[in-house]
Amino acid sequence: MKKLNKIVSFLTLGVMLLSCGQKNESTYENNELSVDKRVENLLSKMTLEEKIGQMNQYNGFWNVTGPSPIQGDAAKKYKDLRKGYVGSMLNVRGVDEVRAIQKIAVEETRLGIPLIIGFDVIHGYETMSPIPLAEAASWDLEAIKKSAEMAALEASSVGINWTFAPMVDISRDARWGRVMEGAGEDTYLGSKIAIARVKGFQGDDLSKHNTIVACAKHFAGYGFAESGRDYNTVDVGTSTLNNVIFPPFQASIEAGVRTFMNSFNELNGVPATGNKFLQRTVLKEKWGFDGFVVSDWGSISEMISHGHAKDNKDAANIAVNAGSDMDMESYAYVDHLATLVSEGKVDAKLIDDAARRILKVKFELGLFEDPYKYCDNKREQEVLGSKPVLDAALDMAVKSIVLLKNEKNILPLKKQGQKIAVIGALANDKTSPLGSWRIAAKDSTAVSVLEGLSEYEGNNVVYAKGADVSLGTPDFITEVKINETDKSEFDAAKKAAKNADVVVMVLGEHGFQSGEGRSRTEIGLPGVQQELLEEVYKVNKNIVLVLNNGRPLTLGWADAHIPSILECWQLGTQSGHAIAKVLYGDYNPSGKLPMSFPRHVGQLPLYYNYKNTGRPTLPGKDVVFWSHYQDEKNEALYPFGHGLSYTRFTYENLKVELQGNEVSVKIDVKNVGDVHGKEVVQLYLRDMVASVTRPVRELKGFEMIELETGEEKTIQFRLTAKELGFYNNEGSFVVEPGMFKVFLGGSSKTVIETSFEIKE
Ligand code: BGC
Repeated sequence: MKKLNKIVSFLTLGVMLLSCGQKNESTYENNELSVDKRVENLLSKMTLEEKIGQMNQYNGFWNVTGPSPIQGDAAKKYKDLRKGYVGSMLNVRGVDEVRAIQKIAVEETRLGIPLIIGFDVIHGYETMSPIPLAEAASWDLEAIKKSAEMAALEASSVGINWTFAPMVDISRDARWGRVMEGAGEDTYLGSKIAIARVKGFQGDDLSKHNTIVACAKHFAGYGFAESGRDYNTVDVGTSTLNNVIFPPFQASIEAGVRTFMNSFNELNGVPATGNKFLQRTVLKEKWGFDGFVVSDWGSISEMISHGHAKDNKDAANIAVNAGSDMDMESYAYVDHLATLVSEGKVDAKLIDDAARRILKVKFELGLFEDPYKYCDNKREQEVLGSKPVLDAALDMAVKSIVLLKNEKNILPLKKQGQKIAVIGALANDKTSPLGSWRIAAKDSTAVSVLEGLSEYEGNNVVYAKGADVSLGTPDFITEVKINETDKSEFDAAKKAAKNADVVVMVLGEHGFQSGEGRSRTEIGLPGVQQELLEEVYKVNKNIVLVLNNGRPLTLGWADAHIPSILECWQLGTQSGHAIAKVLYGDYNPSGKLPMSFPRHVGQLPLYYNYKNTGRPTLPGKDVVFWSHYQDEKNEALYPFGHGLSYTRFTYENLKVELQGNEVSVKIDVKNVGDVHGKEVVQLYLRDMVASVTRPVRELKGFEMIELETGEEKTIQFRLTAKELGFYNNEGSFVVEPGMFKVFLGGSSKTVIETSFEIKE
């Protein structure tokens, strides 16, 4: 009997152990199981309301990056958090804040599911890199990747694990203020940059404590807002959608992006947030995206104003059916989805699908192993503003500068014995260079141009403001007030200029003049700055114009009169150091424009890869019937890809060879100037005859090279189906046989061309 008891107790123990093991093995807590299995297990334990909770994202209580929703009271948010009805928060800042909010989710809710913490880490967190458009001007994919890596390093050190970047919207309209946040007008360059940014943010392993989830936004068409007015209607054809707008999003998926954000605009009559074609048919079915889609701020509710939903409940119904997985600040899902399911209007499977996608990303981040892994005060101290971050920001900043013009060779400046007058309020501004998306950067933390120049001591530098750009203290939320009248300091500026060997005028837009909600109809120098430039020019023509701006500007007068023009955008924390280095030739400028600079705002939208039309050229003297303006040229002032150097490069010996299904293109590039320099060798293609007309030229390859004086290199490109083909209007990617032209050079106004034929 005793023996039997022993056997029984052994058996019981065995069963206990077994069931224990089974329990561990089959629950979401077991990190040896696959992510998919863990997600399914967790889903099986969740109520409908908890699943919907995962689909709900609230803004934090301290910062707002959009209009505050009327119901947005903190008490409701806390209540919902405690019930497990919140899956994510945005704009919660700092280790302590994130820890406190995470603690509620983890310790006070039934299942303890951690939150994913989102933030607009667009070009840096506290240490700012150049605005994304400026970074794109570097064409340096490694530096751009590094910049995103550093942004992730800082953000992840303060509790953030998800950024709403990169913005991969292509835009051809400089009136649109958000061009500062993208990579410019070109799909090929934009796709490469999208990949670099996604990889930079996410690294190769999301569960590391210094990588964060990226978000390709805004899906789709946001950059094509009519008249460049933010949030405006978008109406584009199939070919533009497939060939221009979609590819950077597809590239982001190839790079492994885990989230998408939809957009505020309607696309061909249906708001993107409620657009099933975009989110289900294209993104999730055709492209097989298995991450999740977050709405833009309040964009589910905004479908009411669009005239697409009758109330918030209707909006929730439309959005969830269309494939928007997470609701940012509309309160539509948390308030209405459960009822919609019980009424049979929303299939519960859609809720499972959305919650599954969101939970999957949380598991990938490793949040279930350690929800506080990003909350480490020591790391925060070590990382913010640390040397590697500052060094990368400087490296990125020098590479983003574009030399637009340098006629009298005023640049680079001599380092000794010069009298230099520095003019312009922006020369002494330590905030504006931080840009517009700089929620966590502290005011007055950028190095100003004056500070940067002061490190070169061989010259005598005098400063005169000349005029303010803006009035008061511009901020993220309100309209910037421009100084349109006060010229009281013009005379002092002219006096300083008169006595100088060289005048450095730092003019342009305030950092808050571009960005979201900041469209302009006039894109010249704001306020009285143009007049200041012309007045100073009257007393000294030796001017270097240093531009600070977040979009292409119209610079006709400056181009006609000013010998040297340097495009310096908003370069971030290290702005002044970078500008001084380039002015003095310690860095030879290598940037190339990622967007065309128009001659006149009336040319917009303007882009280098336009279509030929049926009437591209002047048919005869004084005949008007061709595609042109009466009062302005068709071409850009500074075209896409343009950018000079302190040296010069020649392009010779273009050779094309068909090798099986590929085309090999070779070109010899030589540095024929006096200094070492970098050049972005650009390859453009034109498919001469196609079933859907192709642009007059399209960028299909580029390579950055470095050449010593007199050095020559042969550069080879390989063109495959990917470069030769396009999407037809049935949505198929095709390479059509026939003649192609290939163009090589240092800008989209290329210097050398030849042709080849792709046979049937
Ligand atoms: C912007 C998004 C941004 C979001 C959250 C919206 O207004 O359009 O790009 O990520 O706010 O701040």
